[in-house]
Amino acid sequence: MKKNIFVAREVFEEVLDFLAPHFDVQANQEDKVLTGEALALVLADKEGAMTTLTEKIDETLLSRCPRLQAVCNIAVGYNNIDLTACNAHGVMATNTPGVLDDTTADFAWALILATARRLNEAEAYVRQGLWDKWKLKQFLGLDVHHAVLGIVGLGRIGQVVARRAAGFEMEVLYYDVQRAAPEIEAACRAAYVPKEELFGKADIVTIHIPYSRETHHAVGAPEIALMKKSAILIHAARGGVLDDAALVEALRAGAVAGAGLDVFEGEPAIHPGFRELENVVLSPHIASSSENTRYKMAMMAAENLVAALSSGNPPNLLNAEVKKR
Ligand code: GLV
Repeated sequence: MKKNIFVAREVFEEVLDFLAPHFDVQANQEDKVLTGEALALVLADKEGAMTTLTEKIDETLLSRCPRLQAVCNIAVGYNNIDLTACNAHGVMATNTPGVLDDTTADFAWALILATARRLNEAEAYVRQGLWDKWKLKQFLGLDVHHAVLGIVGLGRIGQVVARRAAGFEMEVLYYDVQRAAPEIEAACRAAYVPKEELFGKADIVTIHIPYSRETHHAVGAPEIALMKKSAILIHAARGGVLDDAALVEALRAGAVAGAGLDVFEGEPAIHPGFRELENVVLSPHIASSSENTRYKMAMMAAENLVAALSSGNPPNLLNAEVKKR
């Protein structure tokens, strides 16, 4: 008999075609976000689930899912999944590392360029029919080339962002809880500096660390206060790493020049202050959203689920210590 699985959010039809020979698939192609009670009810008779960052997999949920053996997240970030609770219930958890590094780094660069050169303001100006003459001092922005780039977190995505900086002949500084290996620093042409030095020297600060209890507000008022008034802050990592309220305050006070943000605390709600500020480029958590990459992420999660429920050895297992059901 085939095992039952639930695909919690809309995926590409090809992914469902791939899953169909292996499982009895219930899919949420209408893409309604199921929270708490509804998710517990649908997962009560399922052996597997494909989830995204909108599904919270915690003790409350897992205690109601006696048959669940695997939760395969379509994301590299997995702060929506409580691994301790998964271990307690014998549930394997997986993510999708690697396939989205380049695409996410590309998008961080899109935010860097758009924010530095005030592209959103300029575009709105033209679109609204306000452009009446060329002006020398129009939308004066920040030069990206030869600027100092400060990368918070030189993990997989941070490294790709750093390597792209060579094309702009930038000086690259980074800070991380652990210093990277010399060969990584060399490939990224990145110098390790204390956090305070990074925030104080960078013209562009970009955040690339995962969210956890330890990284909650890792970039907050004290760090933002060290930034130059002319500097910009870019965030395409995970909501909660940055203290959004502290950034709004700094932007209002003119303590930093601008920000480019793809992720927010409590998204899809965002701090209302961001909407009132012109010097902020906002996007709805789409850094990994190229056609190619989102397809690969969903397929990778599907492959993890097939492996988890057949061999018990999914390639991207997050909790190797789990005692499988
Ligand atoms: C997207 O935000 C991811 O974590 O993959």
